[in-house]
Amino acid sequence: MFEIKVLFVTSEIAPLIKTGGLADVSGALPVALREIDIDVRVLIPGYPKVMAQLGPNEVVARFLEIPGFPPSRLIFSIMESGVPLLVLDCPSLYARDGGPYADANGNDWVDNSIRFGLLSKVAAILGSEESPLSWQPDLVHGNDWQTGLTGAYLSVAKGAVPNVVTIHNLAFQGNFPPKNVQLLHLPPQSFQPDGMEFYGNMSFLKAGIFYAYHITTVSPNYAREIQGEALGFGLQGLLHARRNDVTGILNGIDTDEWNPETDKHLPHHFSVAKMSGKALNKQALQSRMGLDINPEVPLLGVVSRLTHQKGLDLLLEIAQSLLDLPVQLVILGSGEPQMQNTANELALRYPGKVAAMIGFDEGLSHLIEAGIDLFIMPSRFEPCGLNQFYSQRYGTPPIVHSTGGLADSVVDCTPDTLKNGTASGFVFSGMTTENLYTTIVRAIDLYRDQRKWKALRKNCMSKDFTWKTSALAYRDVYLKVLGRTEYE
Ligand code: ADP
Ligand code: GLC
Repeated sequence: MFEIKVLFVTSEIAPLIKTGGLADVSGALPVALREIDIDVRVLIPGYPKVMAQLGPNEVVARFLEIPGFPPSRLIFSIMESGVPLLVLDCPSLYARDGGPYADANGNDWVDNSIRFGLLSKVAAILGSEESPLSWQPDLVHGNDWQTGLTGAYLSVAKGAVPNVVTIHNLAFQGNFPPKNVQLLHLPPQSFQPDGMEFYGNMSFLKAGIFYAYHITTVSPNYAREIQGEALGFGLQGLLHARRNDVTGILNGIDTDEWNPETDKHLPHHFSVAKMSGKALNKQALQSRMGLDINPEVPLLGVVSRLTHQKGLDLLLEIAQSLLDLPVQLVILGSGEPQMQNTANELALRYPGKVAAMIGFDEGLSHLIEAGIDLFIMPSRFEPCGLNQFYSQRYGTPPIVHSTGGLADSVVDCTPDTLKNGTASGFVFSGMTTENLYTTIVRAIDLYRDQRKWKALRKNCMSKDFTWKTSALAYRDVYLKVLGRTEYE
């Protein structure tokens, strides 16, 4: 019996459409919520990739004519995971080659305010008396700026249900010129500092934070960090003012998709009891990426968006001195052209020792997590981060900067933490090349001590990263928002 009905609104969802961690969360969290009796249905824009994966028998639920927006329709579908999906089909806004947010050259779609204004508007319609559907949610749960206007629309809708917003990354805010207030048929009074006005623009994310009944973000540490100037991206004042309505809930991971014992992307499976498969994956990765086949050399790896946030410029800066050591490095990522070029140049300069693959490759990302010895994630800021979880689960201790969710999910390896069985990686504070370098050297030293290395890997692989705990925390938030303390 379902107890709460939730409309979960997102701009990407794995495995249908993914540019980053939001897709992983949207693919897995609703499944975990359904397992604890929450009837979650997901609303997602009908990008070509999504439309192409719909079955032939999908039902068109409703045609929508919404003032200010092109005509659209809602299509019912069901994900392979069993989660019901509502696809917002609006060809003039979503049927284009390129990504969900930008064209193939990385330029943002010029009509993004309309594209995600419509997503927010439809979410609000479905959460109000105006909804054309018989299924009515008890609350709307939006994610990131792309759903940020939902609360503003709900604030003037009849019979509106409450809403929750989850911030996955405060750096992306969806700020647009003020003319959008009128263009998107938003309540005029919403354009003020106590509303969505943000330094002269209208801000989707500020609206999201201002109008939500409750705000969550994806780790407890990040929930604190965003209330300060360094990582508040200008919204720290509002977030601090709303601190009693801000909750940090650490992400989990899809432990079926990321399971070294069954992973369909791996040529060899392994487990904490039988690690031989990991060494074979290392060999397979070295061979596939043109690295020297060498079981002994510590193989370092990166899977990431190549952006300032991820701090990989630090790694590229120290690459030369790092590569004087007996190590190998594999990089999978895409993003800023300069970082892509540097990665490619390194691979050319150090054949057999460095391999770079510029692009997005889900299968290869699994093989890298499984085949490498150490994962490098020196993010300047990281709301949660997922790869440090995947790494630990695949017996690959991560090297991380102490920030956001990384600080909440990796325990630095010291004699004490190794002894008490909590050590699970290498954590450095202070975002400098020197700190990163010495931490990598420290990790390589430990790699050379087989007894300690095995203990560390075992700790990593024994940790629980399932979504269960997080799903229960989201349920508490939902209950709070609905003014209930427990299930009736
Ligand atoms: P973010 O969402 O900020 O990029 P996360 O660590 O939360 O960071 O999630 C990133 C997700 O995207 C992970 O699942 C990671 O494996 C995946 N990913 C990032 N870059 C690539 C890539 N080039 N190829 C395949 N997967 C990638
Ligand atoms: C964002 C963040 C990342 C987080 C992901 C999923 O993309 O950058 O840290 O893990 O969302 O919540």
